[in-house]
Amino acid sequence: MISFQHLYKTYSGNVQALRNIDLEIEQGEFVFLTGPSGAGKTTLFKMISAFDKPTSGQIEVVGYNLNQITPHRIPYFRRKIGVIFQDFKLLPEKTVFENVALPLEVRFEKKTSIAKKVTEILDQVGLRNKADQFPEMLSGGEQQRTAIARALIHQPGVLVADEPTGNLDPDLSEEIMDLLERVCAQGTTVFVATHDHDLVRRRRKRTIHIQDGNLVSDTGRPL
Ligand SMILES: Nc1ncnc2c1ncn2[C@@H]1O[C@H](COP(=O)(O)OP(=O)(O)OP(=O)(O)O)[C@@H](O)[C@H]1O
Ligand SMILES: [Mg+2]
Repeated sequence: MISFQHLYKTYSGNVQALRNIDLEIEQGEFVFLTGPSGAGKTTLFKMISAFDKPTSGQIEVVGYNLNQITPHRIPYFRRKIGVIFQDFKLLPEKTVFENVALPLEVRFEKKTSIAKKVTEILDQVGLRNKADQFPEMLSGGEQQRTAIARALIHQPGVLVADEPTGNLDPDLSEEIMDLLERVCAQGTTVFVATHDHDLVRRRRKRTIHIQDGNLVSDTGRPL
């Protein structure tokens, strides 16, 4: 589902953000990515979501070889994955419903089909009663659930979440993690970067740790 082989990413100024990463994540797995600030977590997620290309090495995600992907195929690839950020990235002038519908609207889906899918997904994240509200009227947890609903609207095979609870208090963080575990239980591969070690410890999931761009352990096992 996600495969890295000898992957390196070097930014200008000779910053080696990722060094020789080998990683296999299977369909339906739930995996945490931990590591100090600057370790390369966001860089790794940018590689997975094709926001940037590796300097060398191989990367394959949901059957796409991202080394060779051409720009016109990237939108098709993105429909197979969902991406969530710490700061939600909702459009303030659109309602919850409209924010979640956006990825389908840009594909010119029928209004009835969009309404059905959006209502289903809002049910799943517990926000059906907030559909007509604007983001500023929502709590942080509700905003993040809206962003998760938007990321799930195409039923992606993989969901990558970069510090999805970074701006939330502990109770809301637990709520978001429960939601991500339910998404995983339905068959989606979920890969979550977080600084929150307590949260990781409690969940007892596969945990990949990186430091200075090196993958140093996988579920406590040194590599
Ligand atoms: N566009 C860029 N150009 C140059 N250097 C970059 C760029 N993006 C990231 N870096 C550098 O790459 C390294 C890894 O950054 P990255 O954002 O992946 O870390 P991170 O693990 O996500 O950190 P944090 O926990 O603070 O979010 C850092 O040294 C960072 O300064
Ligand atoms: Mg980061």
